[in-house]
Amino acid sequence: MDEFPTDGSIDPPQAADGAYGSVLERLHEGFQILDHRWRYLYVNDAVVAHARRPRRALLGRSMLELYPGIEETPIFTTLRRCMRQRVSDQVESRFFYPEGGSAWFELRVQPVPEGLAVLSIDVSERKALEARLRQSQRLDAAGRLAAGLAHDFGNLLSAITGACALALNRDPEPGVRGDLELALSAGERASALVEQLMAFCRQRAVNPQPLDVRARIAAFADLLRRSTARRCPVELFLEPTPPVNMDGGGFEQVVLNLVVNAADAMPDGGSITVRTGDVLFEQETAFGAATLPAGRYAALTVTDTGVGMPPEVAARVFEPCFTTKSEGQGTGLGLSSSYGIVRQAGGAIAVCSEPGTGSSFTVYLPAAPSAD
Ligand SMILES: Nc1ncnc2c1ncn2[C@@H]1O[C@H](COP(=O)(O)OP(=O)(O)OP(=O)(O)O)[C@@H](O)[C@H]1O
Ligand SMILES: [Mg+2]
Repeated sequence: MDEFPTDGSIDPPQAADGAYGSVLERLHEGFQILDHRWRYLYVNDAVVAHARRPRRALLGRSMLELYPGIEETPIFTTLRRCMRQRVSDQVESRFFYPEGGSAWFELRVQPVPEGLAVLSIDVSERKALEARLRQSQRLDAAGRLAAGLAHDFGNLLSAITGACALALNRDPEPGVRGDLELALSAGERASALVEQLMAFCRQRAVNPQPLDVRARIAAFADLLRRSTARRCPVELFLEPTPPVNMDGGGFEQVVLNLVVNAADAMPDGGSITVRTGDVLFEQETAFGAATLPAGRYAALTVTDTGVGMPPEVAARVFEPCFTTKSEGQGTGLGLSSSYGIVRQAGGAIAVCSEPGTGSSFTVYLPAAPSAD
């Protein structure tokens, strides 16, 4: 008996006969034959998946009829040229399904007597990876630029604050003393900003040490509350966390940035919650441009009930100098420096937000390898 379904068990006009028919059928790549009037003569299983249509809806029907508007796509432009000029070609393009959704395909097209043979590969995953890589390269480039600027700027500031301090030591008259003190404190604030920039650029001297996230937050709570005392209470829900290896000052800076942002997002008041906990990722998990390996993590979440963010803002919050605040209100360095500090500790920050409802930022820090 013939092992392969050449006996009509395949819907006509499907024709995958011959000894290797079932190999073609199960190929990871899509394989289809189109006739001169764009009708599907043969589709293997992968094409059925790519087409998002059952096989019986495809065979014998024209692709123009099944995908209204396909004539306008780069994919069809290539198919048409190959059909008319009887040449082979390839194309990589994003295809938008009429019912919504899209996928990236790489197609290789070859004229055959019946019409065209098309080999297709779904490259959506590779495309998503490439986009993530581009985003992280952009952040790295911005980081290098900022590092150069911050370095020179820091040196100038040291000279300015140093000169102010010297002048103050010379016992100036009261009016001048006030001005000098003002200049000195502005210089110190600017130095703190440079610190943030350097942290973002991962060039700040850091001192990773075993850190108990829960205990550190508990000890830091007073300062957090004072930083937002005006209108928003800070509630703490602290569950045990695995110990992490991180610079303590950097950790506090990250939490403070998140809490201050939360308070800024609630001009009419609201509440901020800070949670800690223990999380296990069973598999590699991506957060924006950062991918965390599977394993145990300490998680810290800051949630607010504020204005929230539309997706296009949420996608950019870690970019240096990205701010939606008016001039003088925000530098846009808070989250980008926090991102740098957390990445340096091997962690990542996840954002979740809905306009009008609030936002939640979760910092994941890898558990320190246990001593035993
Ligand atoms: N909790 C939040 N709710 C809504 N929007 C937020 C929240 N946190 C951050 N954002 C958005 O992300 C932007 C960038 O935040 P980031 O902390 O980097 O800078 P900033 O707060 O604007 O300035 P800076 O931190 O220097 O004062 C903010 O301007 C705001 O649009
Ligand atoms: Mg901020």
